[in-house]
Amino acid sequence: MSSAFQQCIHPDCSQKYDLGQILTACPACQSLLDVAYDWDQVPVPSHLKEFEARWTDRRTPVNFSGVWRFRELISFPRDEQIVTIGEGQTILQQNDQLAKVAGLNSGSLFLQYEGLNPSGSFKDNGMTAASTHASMVGAKMTACASTGNTSASLAIYAGVSGLFQCVVFVGSGRIAYGKLSQALDYGARTLQILGDFDDALARVREVCAEHPIYLCNSVNPFRLEGQKSIMYRILEGLSWEVPDWILVPGGNLGNSSAFGKAFLELKQLGLIDRIPRLAIINAEGADTLDSLVNAESLNWNEGRSDSEMIRDFYRLMDEEDRRANTLASAIEINRPVNLVKALRSLNVCDGVVRSVSDQEIVDARARIAASGFGCEPASGASLAGLLQLREEGLIAPSDRVACVLTGHQLKDPDLTVAYHMDDPKKRAEKLQPAGVNETPFANSPVVVENSKAAIVAALGL
Ligand code: F0G
Repeated sequence: MSSAFQQCIHPDCSQKYDLGQILTACPACQSLLDVAYDWDQVPVPSHLKEFEARWTDRRTPVNFSGVWRFRELISFPRDEQIVTIGEGQTILQQNDQLAKVAGLNSGSLFLQYEGLNPSGSFKDNGMTAASTHASMVGAKMTACASTGNTSASLAIYAGVSGLFQCVVFVGSGRIAYGKLSQALDYGARTLQILGDFDDALARVREVCAEHPIYLCNSVNPFRLEGQKSIMYRILEGLSWEVPDWILVPGGNLGNSSAFGKAFLELKQLGLIDRIPRLAIINAEGADTLDSLVNAESLNWNEGRSDSEMIRDFYRLMDEEDRRANTLASAIEINRPVNLVKALRSLNVCDGVVRSVSDQEIVDARARIAASGFGCEPASGASLAGLLQLREEGLIAPSDRVACVLTGHQLKDPDLTVAYHMDDPKKRAEKLQPAGVNETPFANSPVVVENSKAAIVAALGL
């Protein structure tokens, strides 16, 4: 076995598996798997700063990549096995305007723009790692279920690398057009399942279990290894100082799972001296984690979380036919596959979970766009969560906070336009059914006659 291997996360099992096996759950006990390392055999630098030297080497793809620049911390492939398309060139922006809105001290709020990835979302951090593993095991076809971004990401990696064909399963009717257009453009075989994301994920897992198709959803432990790099880049942006809080929207809980693992490993390796707190922000219409953690007191329990409680929760959800429902379609997920790993992250990071309404999400999204590079609705949950946690007083004005903005503003232009346009039809179709009745940060276009005089008058000149 090499210095990297797969390992069951359940402490009563902890079974190890070779890197070459294609697994999305422990064959022995069905728990989730980690990629784990025998760190004694990995040449990890003695200080995180040493990774910075690779910045200057733009012509070596594995150094240029904002994921593989940190490859000793994600050391399952050899350099020549890595499939990269230049992901992870993302920015940590200090945003004092929003710091003021949130009642944080100037210089305390940072936005991590993962929308700057090649396919426009954080998914590329994980997809480079999953594609690398798919290539290592000789996969010819890859697949995923998606609310949109995973499919865009998988499609771009399959298209650019030319290594495998890909098929994406999307729920019908819910996917934002920017994302659907990407999957189609990049050449993915696209199946619109007559159901929602939870249905699509269940179906793709069934199909991949019986056919030689490599599954790239975040139950794939290799994907999460790549997503750890988002945290490395936040630390890098802060000159390797650990922030007080990380806020991230929670959907399938892959990011939150990866972030906790990243910090746990960095602490174990002595590369950081403390771990930031993590806030996972659900949409109110897709709040399984919030309900289980806050209302039912579900916790990690040293790896033995109450699986019966989770089963009962899902059983009731099915009986009542409760479906996820939020304008933030990226996180419209009621059965997060990484639930248990997210519990581990909450434990590692002394984390909290909150839910925010669609009104709060779309307003936060508009405020981010008005003062930063912009993001899609789900990402707005990070700022909406921050406002809530500031109001509670859990986050202090002097705390240093990093909000992860997971997807690009142009992913869901329909919603953005519906928010800004003062159009009763668009409002009635898109916003009002979700309880969004106000658009306080709208920047509506002014309709003006086709004449210089009318334009000058409209400009108040
Ligand atoms: N933000 C965006 C923009 C997303 O696309 C997703 C997930 C999340 C947040 C939630 O992240 O699953 O790690 O908790 N999108 C998936 C998809 C489910 O299919 O594109 P998570």
